[in-house]
Amino acid sequence: MSAADWIDLSGKNAHVTGGAKGIGAAIAEALALAGAKVAVSDVDEAGAAATAERIGGISMGLDVSDRPAVDAALEATADQLGSLDIIVNNAGVYNDLGGPVRDITDDMWRTLWSINVDGLFYCCRAAARIMIDGGKGGRIINIASTQAVSPGVGVTYDGSKAAVVQITKALALELAQHKINVNAIAPGPTWVGDEPAPPITGDVPPRTGDPLGDTIADRISRLPAGHWGSPMEQGKAAVFLASPLSDFVTGAYLPVDGGWLTL
Ligand SMILES: NC(=O)c1ccc[n+]([C@@H]2O[C@H](COP(=O)([O-])OP(=O)(O)OC[C@H]3O[C@@H](n4cnc5c(N)ncnc54)[C@H](O)[C@@H]3O)[C@@H](O)[C@H]2O)c1
Repeated sequence: MSAADWIDLSGKNAHVTGGAKGIGAAIAEALALAGAKVAVSDVDEAGAAATAERIGGISMGLDVSDRPAVDAALEATADQLGSLDIIVNNAGVYNDLGGPVRDITDDMWRTLWSINVDGLFYCCRAAARIMIDGGKGGRIINIASTQAVSPGVGVTYDGSKAAVVQITKALALELAQHKINVNAIAPGPTWVGDEPAPPITGDVPPRTGDPLGDTIADRISRLPAGHWGSPMEQGKAAVFLASPLSDFVTGAYLPVDGGWLTL
C-alpha cells in the first residue's frame, strides 16, 4: 500500500457529461490519467468522440435535458464498460440565457434550468439507480459554481447552481446508506477559451449575458490566485472526489476558485 493507491482509479468506470470541451473534457482526461475507463457524452457528439479518442474512452451523444436519453446513456455506459462507479455531472450552460431580470424570458429561464437542474437531476437519479442495484457504492460529482453562494451572473444561472448544491447535499444524506458519496465542485473563473488565458489585470471583457459584467470583471481582476484557473485544476478536484482520498467526504461543496470566495 502506498499513497499512490489513494488516487488509483484502475478498475473504475466513469461517465462525464458535457465532455466535448472545457472543464468536462479535462475532468474526463484527469479520471483517465488516474486509471478509470471513461464514457464521454455531450450534445456535441463529434466533440465527445474526439475527447474519448484522446483519452482511450468511449463516447456518446447526449442532451442531458432529454430524460429517456439520459436513462439510456447511463445504462449503455454500465453495459459497455461493465459498471458505473463514477458520474461527473458537468454539462451546463450560461451564455445568452442570463442578463437583467426584466429581460429574462420564460424560454431563457426554462432552457437553462432544463439543462443545469433538470438534466443534472435526471443524471443523478439514473446513476443512483444503477449504483444502488450494483451494490458496490459509487461517486456522484456535480459541477456547481461559486455563483451558487456568491451571485453575480444573473438570477437564472446563479439560482440553478444553488439548486445543484442543495440537490447534492440531499442526495448525500439519502445515498450514504448505499456507500454512494455525493459532492459538488464549485469552479471559480476557469478559462475555457481556445486561445491562451489573458492576464486578469486590466480590461477583462464582460461575458455575454452578465447583468453586472463590470462587477464580475473587477472581481476577476482581483482574484487572489492572480490568474485564471485551468480546466485541469477542476480535473484534479474531480480525481480527489472520485478516489479513496475522499472516502469520508460526502455532501461537500468544494470551491476550486483561486480564492474567489474570499473576495
Ligand atoms: N468556466 C468557468 O469559469 C465555470 C465556472 C463555474 C462553473 N462552471 C460550470 O462548469 C461546467 C462546464 O463549463 P465550461 O466552462 O467547461 O463550459 P463549456 O461551454 O466550455 O462546455 C460545456 C459543455 O457542455 C455541453 N452541453 C451544453 N448543453 C448540454 C446539454 N444539454 N447536454 C449535454 N451537454 C451539453 C456543451 O456542448 C459543452 O461541450 C458547467 O456546468 C458550468 O456551469 C464553469
